Amino acid sequence: MLVNAKEMLDKALASHYAVPQFNINNLEWTKSILLACEETKSPVILGVSEGAGKYMTGFETVAAMVKAMDKSLGITVPVALHLDHGSYDGCYSCIKAGFTSIMFDGSHFNIEENVEKTKELVAAAHKAGLSIEAEVGSIGGEEDGVVGMGECADPAECKKIADLGIDFLAAGIGNIHGVYPPDWKGLSFDTLAAIKEQIGEKMPLVLHGGSGIPKEMIQKAISLGVAKINVNTELQLVFAAATRKYIEAGSDQKSKGFDPRKLLKPGADAIIEECKAKIELFGCANKA
Ligand code: G3H
Ligand code: ZN
Repeated sequence: MLVNAKEMLDKALASHYAVPQFNINNLEWTKSILLACEETKSPVILGVSEGAGKYMTGFETVAAMVKAMDKSLGITVPVALHLDHGSYDGCYSCIKAGFTSIMFDGSHFNIEENVEKTKELVAAAHKAGLSIEAEVGSIGGEEDGVVGMGECADPAECKKIADLGIDFLAAGIGNIHGVYPPDWKGLSFDTLAAIKEQIGEKMPLVLHGGSGIPKEMIQKAISLGVAKINVNTELQLVFAAATRKYIEAGSDQKSKGFDPRKLLKPGADAIIEECKAKIELFGCANKA
């Protein structure tokens, strides 16, 4: 069932677990994620970056595919279809296309402009029944052309954005998109605690760059108010590794290993297993 993400995140925050945002790139990705979440009875947020949306030929195609697949697979767990790191225009396109949730990433604007645009988009999203995430501070690294310096968010600025009526807040706390470098300093839990102090108990926090963060840090972040964790790179890595292994093992004409339904299966299965591992780590199994 497609829903907006507010209720699932409020529940997660109150019960001390996190809902995964798994980013999708194509039909196989979407199917694997939905199957893993249905099997484990976990709520899920399907994240779509602007680049991935373009790759899948547009947000309308994505919304149509997700809605049809949700129905044809008989998915019973709550599923939110969410724009990831959206631009101002991208947010309006997704509202129109039938997404159930958006993220406006105004972190590269100065705080006044971030406030102004977020405020307008909160009204537009809520009017259409969507939930909305906003961002303060920047996530380091690069994801689909969204580049961040990785500076930690200013707790006072977090309060300014949180007070606009957003449903959940992404704040940079030393997290990085992509693979973490060996000299990464870890998450700044002092920043996280200071942000929580400013924004209050009721605002779910979002941890971006969820690939490869050590288990103990994930658990501590959840205990301090993180209720949504975004994972993209790790699914790409397991898909690529499983596909490479299949190809390198060789396949002859007779086994028809060139058939895309066979060729893409090991990668699709690897995504299912990785999602299940994250669901266990985030504590969201049987929370649907
Ligand atoms: O917005 C999406 C994420 O923050 C995913 O980050 O690719 O490092 O897992 P990741
Ligand atoms: Zn992100």
